[in-house]
Amino acid sequence: MKIALASDHAGYDLKMYVRAHLEAKGYHINDLGVHNKERSDYPVFGNMAAKEVANGNSDLAIIFCGTGIGISIAANKVKGVRCCCCSEPYSARMSRLHNDCNVLAMGGRVVGDELALMIVDEFLATEFEGGRHADRVKLIGELDEY
Ligand code: RB5
Repeated sequence: MKIALASDHAGYDLKMYVRAHLEAKGYHINDLGVHNKERSDYPVFGNMAAKEVANGNSDLAIIFCGTGIGISIAANKVKGVRCCCCSEPYSARMSRLHNDCNVLAMGGRVVGDELALMIVDEFLATEFEGGRHADRVKLIGELDEY
């Protein structure tokens, strides 16, 4: 599985922590930056990671800013992307089961390192349930046209 990672400066440290964890597990990582802690703009990086998923270059993306909020808003502007901002594993699990989320956002100033790994592992281990949820996800997709 190929996973895109991206962050701004405020999410950089957590991105690097998650990246080491995923590489140790054997995931193919495409780190789109930032590559240092110089001030940067989260919409640019949220958009880059979301496009990677939308165009099929990556299966999923995990993105980071200070809160996870700004970068998730930016990612959700890209057609076909369903990004959730999570601070605990339950929501990460449900975002896959019911919403078929393909991008996970977290806040580097919100979530501790070990909690972040639990959130990531839950997100990656869970498959979309389909069924009645597929109809609702399809309805979300139709909103891309407005
Ligand atoms: C940067 O200071 C901060 O605003 C950004 O990382 C993010 O939290 C925005 O939503």
